[in-house]
Amino acid sequence: MNKDQLRMPLFEKLKQFASEGPTSFHVPGHKNGIIIPDAARNYFEQILKLDMTELPGLDDLHAPAESIAESEGLAAEFFGSEETFFLVGGSTAGNLAMILGVCSAGDEVIVQRNCHKSIMNGLELSGAKPVFIAPEYDDEMRRHTNPSLSILREALRVHPDAKAIVLTYPDYFGKTYSIEEMIQLAHSYNIPVLVDEAHGVHFALGGPFPPSALQLGADVVVQSAHKMAPAMTMASFLHINSSLVSKERIAHFLQLIQSSSPSYPIMASLDIARSFLATLKPEDVVVILQSVKGIRDILKQEAYWDILPSDDPLKITFHVKQSHSAREIATLFENENIYPELVTHNQILFIHGLSSFEKTDVLKKTVKSVMEQLKNHSNHATMNVAKLFAEPIQELALSYEAMNKLPYKQVPFTEGIGHIAAEAVIPYPPGIPFILKGEKITAAHIEAIEQLRGQGVRIQQRESGIRVY
Ligand SMILES: Cc1ncc(COP(=O)(O)O)c(C=O)c1O
Repeated sequence: MNKDQLRMPLFEKLKQFASEGPTSFHVPGHKNGIIIPDAARNYFEQILKLDMTELPGLDDLHAPAESIAESEGLAAEFFGSEETFFLVGGSTAGNLAMILGVCSAGDEVIVQRNCHKSIMNGLELSGAKPVFIAPEYDDEMRRHTNPSLSILREALRVHPDAKAIVLTYPDYFGKTYSIEEMIQLAHSYNIPVLVDEAHGVHFALGGPFPPSALQLGADVVVQSAHKMAPAMTMASFLHINSSLVSKERIAHFLQLIQSSSPSYPIMASLDIARSFLATLKPEDVVVILQSVKGIRDILKQEAYWDILPSDDPLKITFHVKQSHSAREIATLFENENIYPELVTHNQILFIHGLSSFEKTDVLKKTVKSVMEQLKNHSNHATMNVAKLFAEPIQELALSYEAMNKLPYKQVPFTEGIGHIAAEAVIPYPPGIPFILKGEKITAAHIEAIEQLRGQGVRIQQRESGIRVY
């Protein structure tokens, strides 16, 4: 690396500015943390000193030329991109902008079916015509993971003029796949590959972490720094490494989607997270891996769950045996103040941080207590997910344009069968739609949703039932 990755230009600039005791006759209304209720003062005072606005010398996210440009440049160097954009609206903002920046109304786009809702929302906003490719069911992981190379090949044979291919890599549980071959295949058609790498910002560390899609040739890669690196919630990156996409168009949509008053603490936390990753030493990584091993050993036991293997060492997935439900076991951990990241009908995900875990005694005690309590519980939970992504290649029943002109009605889930969904049905987390807006609702969909709800999985919706056309 040529540049000094210890440097954090934006963060340093903000600290310097705050240390000079500036007088605020500008927004935000907390006036550099002076105006704040007493109850919040201890928590917020320090950070609000950095919660600035576009003052002279503090640069502008939407037209960076000073410290933000320098910070983005350091990130581009570390991650290996031609250009890196700071995001203050999460990977959600990045996913929307990368799709809008590459796809226009009516364009065919090949999309992994089990993408995050932000990808689906980007498609809807762009008016593109998605061609969904189904993920395979992985017997070892006991869940749907990624589409196969052969499905992508077939989709490209039928849709050689697609404007883009949109993939998720890794999945929520850290599972990777040979995306490099897919990228090469796409490039043989001159089609750019847009990757939602929300869960892979730390892949830039190199082995033992899997390679980033950016290193493997993807054209645009979006990463939630806040998910796996020490960044504030919503802090994310969008990287471009391609002559197949227009940086200007993506930048245009980023400024269209994101706030005109982006949060300086969030931007500064991107600086901090990038510097943290870039300066992590191999011996630090050894300590992290030892800690992961220790946690896996504590969690490992055969009675109620298996701990699955993982491509990303930081992801620890429990596969819950059929005698119990994952929600039930997660609740027992939560009752002892230990909170998992994600609970599905059969799996629980713990995410290890990028440092040694210190509370092993607490965890040991909790596992023991959970096991004791499970002896007296039995909450048999099964679910048939095999039929969920039945079509290997699938298009929507109606175009977004047509849908947006049609009236819809709200019906109970069971009455939705046979209708076209006018909204997505999204268990959250992970935020992957079970039913897509524009998809024909099947009995298998409804059965799966009822089972999920019965197991306490939260469906993200304002009204019960489903909107249909
Ligand atoms: C695969 C995937 N993509 C995108 C997102 C959205 O990321 P963010 O929360 O940074 O907006 C998520 C969030 O969970 C996700 O899991």
